[in-house]
Amino acid sequence: MSAPLNIKVHTPSKRYDVICGKGALRVATDKIANLGRSTGNFLLTSAKVRSACGRQLKRTLGSRVLTASIVFDDRESAKNLSTVEKVCRALVRAGADRKSILIAAGGGVVGDVAGFVAASYLRGVRLVHIPTTLVAQVDSSIGGKTGVNLPEGKNLAGAFYQPDLVIVDPLTLRTLPAREYRSGLYEVIKYGVIGDRSLFSCLERDLEKLLKRDEAALGYAIPRCIAAKARITSRDEKESGLREVLNFGHTFGHAIETVTRYRVFRHGEAVGWGMIAATLLGVVCTGLPVAYAARIIRLVRRVGALPLLPQCNVRKLLDAMRSDKKSRGGRLRFVVPMDIGRVKSGAEVPDDLLSTVWSELRALDRKPR
Ligand SMILES: NC(=O)c1ccc[n+]([C@@H]2O[C@H](COP(=O)([O-])OP(=O)(O)OC[C@H]3O[C@@H](n4cnc5c(N)ncnc54)[C@H](O)[C@@H]3O)[C@@H](O)[C@H]2O)c1
Ligand SMILES: [Zn+2]
Repeated sequence: MSAPLNIKVHTPSKRYDVICGKGALRVATDKIANLGRSTGNFLLTSAKVRSACGRQLKRTLGSRVLTASIVFDDRESAKNLSTVEKVCRALVRAGADRKSILIAAGGGVVGDVAGFVAASYLRGVRLVHIPTTLVAQVDSSIGGKTGVNLPEGKNLAGAFYQPDLVIVDPLTLRTLPAREYRSGLYEVIKYGVIGDRSLFSCLERDLEKLLKRDEAALGYAIPRCIAAKARITSRDEKESGLREVLNFGHTFGHAIETVTRYRVFRHGEAVGWGMIAATLLGVVCTGLPVAYAARIIRLVRRVGALPLLPQCNVRKLLDAMRSDKKSRGGRLRFVVPMDIGRVKSGAEVPDDLLSTVWSELRALDRKPR
């Protein structure tokens, strides 16, 4: 087995390594030890992740390494301040202090909650991510966005807080339900469109292999995505400009999730529709060649059948887009492809074009795939 890769993230607030590759978990103990003296290592995870990956985690993070494990509910509906409070209180009871290390093992929900806990517990303790979903491996565990939902909306309370180490082992993906796995593949396609033409071509060639979780295909795709996220977040830690490109497909995507109240779509699936919408906008706004637009749309659709779009009026969708925390003063901004591997961000689009695109998406939805 070849040694895992080490991808460096250099943000103004912290520098850290992302250790990535098959078997990366085997080196977790040493890498955690390299973080310096710790008064205790506390595993934060969920019951579901523990039953899926417990054996793998135990093999490396046995009782020799771990002081205590804290298990919390990782349903999206439990990603809230009450869970943050419960986890913080459990840490106090378990004796965690400022020199302790939190180790978050799980998907984006575990990572977002644990990240926010790490940022706020005793005003900040060290954090190690061990992401176990594809979304978490290529996206949420890198870059330092942490936070939880409020009844008023998603991810409304949080902090930028970088981890000290990320351990990405694709072997943990073996137990991931098929729909969760496919949901992550949409984010992988996103990285190809926003900045990596070679990754995009490779996805076109090897999508079937990736759908079967082929080790070699994952071994290529996951580090490419991590390297892209590392590059972008190192240059724009707090989303003041460049980082916006990561929102390709997310303006429509978030609106679709909002109008369906987060009950119908996995996040990646909504982004799948959102990327199709943004690609159609690209044809009009940036002169994206139609043949390239067709390639992007075809690749997205090859991942699998997306849930049906809501039967709502475009007005409702636009309202949802305008109330998104990323819209500026109610003005909608889109990230649209100019080419495969190059996007333009901050594109402003008239409502009538958005209405046309929404009709076209729904027409696409009615056709057999
Ligand atoms: N912070 C960021 O930058 C960022 C980026 C993208 C998404 N997110 C957040 O991440 C969340 C979505 O994350 P997600 O897609 O990873 O989903 P998730 O955390 O909801 O996990 C999906 C399901 O898979 C289970 N699971 C996790 N790992 C498993 C494994 N190896 N085997 C079997 N089951 C496993 C979980 O218990 C859960 O039921 C959302 O809350 C989203 O807002 C954050
Ligand atoms: Zn996303």
